[in-house]
Amino acid sequence: MIDFTPEDRTGRRVLFTPGPLTTTRTVKEAMLADIGSWDSDCVRLVAEIREALVQLAGGGRDHTCTPIQGSGSYAVEAILGSAVPRGGKLLILSNGAYGRRAQLSAQALGIEHAVLEDPEDVPHDPARVGEALDRDPKVTHVFCVHCETTSGVLNPLREVGLEVERRGRRFLADAISSFGAYPAGPGQPIDLGAGPVDHMAVSANKCIEGVPGFAIVISRRDAMERTAGNARSLCLDLHGQWSHFEKTGQFRYTPPTHVLLAFRQALRELADEGGIPARARRYAESHRALVEGMRRLGFRAYVPPERQSHVITTFHFPGQDFDFKGFYGALHAKGFIIYPGKLTAVPTFRIATIGSIAREEVEALLRAIEETGMAPGAPRP
Ligand SMILES: Cc1ncc(COP(=O)(O)O)c(C=O)c1O
Repeated sequence: MIDFTPEDRTGRRVLFTPGPLTTTRTVKEAMLADIGSWDSDCVRLVAEIREALVQLAGGGRDHTCTPIQGSGSYAVEAILGSAVPRGGKLLILSNGAYGRRAQLSAQALGIEHAVLEDPEDVPHDPARVGEALDRDPKVTHVFCVHCETTSGVLNPLREVGLEVERRGRRFLADAISSFGAYPAGPGQPIDLGAGPVDHMAVSANKCIEGVPGFAIVISRRDAMERTAGNARSLCLDLHGQWSHFEKTGQFRYTPPTHVLLAFRQALRELADEGGIPARARRYAESHRALVEGMRRLGFRAYVPPERQSHVITTFHFPGQDFDFKGFYGALHAKGFIIYPGKLTAVPTFRIATIGSIAREEVEALLRAIEETGMAPGAPRP
């Protein structure tokens, strides 16, 4: 549901960022209730959320869902620290900040790992992943980010998973910025059966359009059972938290009650919108409007269109002397929040097109960019 009206914009920030992102008024209002953490209210709420997420992911009775307090990185770290057994070896596919962060987690956890690196604007090549696995029979698990939010490049998660499956290794996926933005299910971009994906990381504050406060792991039940005793951490013990949910329906430690209430509302609004396919269409349309508008204003996208997600788009600075701070500040003053680039080498900035953003707001952002007088293709004011 889009709650945009021109009056609403007064004093409101529209976040063109990859999360936290713009949420509806009704999602925020859902937090105006207090519920007891051990109470049946919370147990029912958690059960509803866990069930809905497995369904949205295209999973069935063989799948299960484990919410975890914290941000997306906590889910990734819980997965790596719990799925890879002592003596196992992880292959991390990396073409941006989130592949690099997985590497830092593996280092911190003392997990033996190798990294297969690609440039930040190049998706991973499934055949190369297969070759790397053939070269290194010690690798037991492969980790792949779906949408690398650093640049917006979309990795072929499903096709990489099929290569992993062919070699009998286990597959771990980060769909943190893409879950909710791309269809999930057999043959779809997010396909739990391709790999098959043992565990997939998701976040509350991305494309389901909830608020920040917990992360989610969607797992195969048999893979989850195999994680028992593997964890290198008490709080991020995936099996510890999952088995507690299965026994009691509760979080082990203080649950983010208000955030869960907001998330349930966000799930209901996703269903009202027409589910993930409808949301994917809205995001794709916003992305198209943004890229066309930015091209008209003289900005160049960093990632070629055929590799580009509709989650976030990276634009080159239009010149060496581009004053990004001034540009950012001028947009901020009008209530639009964009994002600096996180790329290692190339000077860029990023604009996300996820969240509760209507087409009118994309158009309004483009007008605001034109009015900065800093767009190379726009007339100077
Ligand atoms: C693909 C991906 N993985 C991991 C993360 C890390 O999530 P967080 O910053 O919420 O810890 C992000 C955050 O944007 C992401 O986009």
